[in-house]
Amino acid sequence: MISPGSIEQLLNAVVIEDVVGDYVSLKRSGSRYKGLCPFHDEKTPSFIVSPGMGIYKCFGCQKGGNAIQFLMEIDNMSYPEAAKALAARYGIELIETGNRDDDEYREKQKVRESLQAALDYAAGFFENQLHDEVEGKTKAMPYFKERGYTYETIRKWRLGYSPEDWEAFTLKATKQGYKSENLELAGLIKKRDNGSFYDLYRNRVIFPLVGVSGKLLGFAGRKMSSTDPAPKYVNSPETELYKKSDFLYGIFQAKNAIKKQDKVYLTEGYTDVITLHQAGIENVVASSGTALTPSQIKLIRRFTPNVTVLYDGDAAGIKASLRGIDLLLADDLNVRVVSLPEGKDPDSYCSKLGGEAFSDYLYSEEQNFILFKAKLLLSECGDDPIKKSEAIRDILQSVACMNDALKRNAMSQELARVCKIDEALLAAELGKLLRSKNLKNEQDFIKEVKQLTTASGIEFPREELTDVHQERALFRILLLHGDETWDENSKVSDFIIKEIKEDNQLLFNDEMCALLVAQIKFGVWDKWPGQSYFTQHSNADIASWAAGVLSSGYELSSAFADNFIHVKKEEDNFKNEITAVFLYLRKKKLDNLIKHYTLLLQDPETDVSDTLEMLNYLNELRSRVSKDIGGVVFTI
Ligand code: GTP
Ligand code: MN
Repeated sequence: MISPGSIEQLLNAVVIEDVVGDYVSLKRSGSRYKGLCPFHDEKTPSFIVSPGMGIYKCFGCQKGGNAIQFLMEIDNMSYPEAAKALAARYGIELIETGNRDDDEYREKQKVRESLQAALDYAAGFFENQLHDEVEGKTKAMPYFKERGYTYETIRKWRLGYSPEDWEAFTLKATKQGYKSENLELAGLIKKRDNGSFYDLYRNRVIFPLVGVSGKLLGFAGRKMSSTDPAPKYVNSPETELYKKSDFLYGIFQAKNAIKKQDKVYLTEGYTDVITLHQAGIENVVASSGTALTPSQIKLIRRFTPNVTVLYDGDAAGIKASLRGIDLLLADDLNVRVVSLPEGKDPDSYCSKLGGEAFSDYLYSEEQNFILFKAKLLLSECGDDPIKKSEAIRDILQSVACMNDALKRNAMSQELARVCKIDEALLAAELGKLLRSKNLKNEQDFIKEVKQLTTASGIEFPREELTDVHQERALFRILLLHGDETWDENSKVSDFIIKEIKEDNQLLFNDEMCALLVAQIKFGVWDKWPGQSYFTQHSNADIASWAAGVLSSGYELSSAFADNFIHVKKEEDNFKNEITAVFLYLRKKKLDNLIKHYTLLLQDPETDVSDTLEMLNYLNELRSRVSKDIGGVVFTI
């Protein structure tokens, strides 16, 4: 255990905005900083860092704490790991006292630490092979020089060399005391059928793969000769530390430049990243030659919403990657593209032009992604009207991914101009696409409202929640449809019970509903006991209430008259109804949150711009909630 005294000393030394700033693009706002929460998806910043108190807090997902907790959360570190990382950064010595961590946890921790140590050792080994051994100096160093890498570049990226030998690393590392099982788990060596081990990287130049916080996660080894029939790269396998789908090459070295320039260049190859850095363009990362994944996009988002994709100059490659870009659009990133001349990749073209001219090229050639895609696809259609309409539908798919209605409309107009199509026709086509993808968005939206109103840290006055009709409607559905299917994994009752249990502040006012909610929360019945449990309950109040609920339909018609339209068949609609009831209950809480922040505005201590922004956000959500509830067809 680390002594409480030294933790306190550590936390006093830590500059929280720098620690968080490594992961989140923060903007100053009064005495605080503000940015997009790295822990949940959001489009409007509700994540605050307060230097004075040394804490961070997200109003959206409620995560918050000090710098140690931030690192634990974001980098999946244990408490001691996070404390040690910070201590190293701020030059604080931590004092350990008696150790009481539990065995299993310490065992796991030890494995992770061993893997990390093995990787760090390997990086040194590969560097040493490059700089100090004859083989590396004569084979690999000339390769790097040939590519135009300076000595500083080679050191900065910790480039290395793995000798042409099956066991050079295995033997050296095990001799140094590294266990072969750990070297294998770290993705450095492999086991033969006879149980002996061999090096994964042989006769290759080595690129260390470094994660966003600067930790070494794995390696990539590139062959040096184009005539070598082996694959061009051997990459680290998935390990406890290296997850390909979360990884962006160069993010650690690029993150400050990305924040500063509020823009990232996205390339494909490790060598593109290194060459551009050397040429002075440092806001660049590579996706390692595969389509972007959602977690890579989330990583980018922490630093900037502006992504410029650099395409190699080959049409086949570009076309293959078009679909992947829709993910970026769907995440509200501003996507631009630059296409390079035929046969060039960023690496070769930057080397040819030099950093300054290449930079100029990027600026002058950059164009909006959707327009770029439109021009590209349409150029291949000639006068064929069928091909043309297919191309347009494809382009509209991308437009439909954009969430911002204003941007979407502007884009649709621009497209009409570029494609020479009737604007109204295009808008109608787009409307169709939007409706079909609306369902998924709906779920995201409900999640965001729920996150905000669940345990928000603000007490909601009970007496303000006076509407009981929705509560009764909910229990009526539970009684009537509890045993029916909600989704593949759960019944309607499972869903309702889960929602109630998950939200501590979901208060019910109807006396009987409140009683049942309390029973659910205290686990009196975890599983739905069935309708008859209530209708035949020994407590006469419950039994008669249940009978009443079931027979009357609870006068929903008048209660909902101003909000809802009625249809004949309840079966068609009760799922929407459930969603709407929960939204309705949460809308009340949004109202209260809005009141809370409005009151805060009168407090002279309040940061006005922060609060106004929060209010804006709440009002946006609230109006969408109203619209959603209004759209639900309620039945009796
Ligand atoms: P150069 O051709 O030397 O410029 O290297 P590069 O890194 O730019 O490679 P390239 O443009 O061919 O490919 C882009 C990225 O795809 C690479 O950086 C690798 O991450 C990945 N990649 C390419 N070839 C292979 C391969 O054979 N195996 C694996 N696992 N990944 C590869
Ligand atoms: Mn390349």
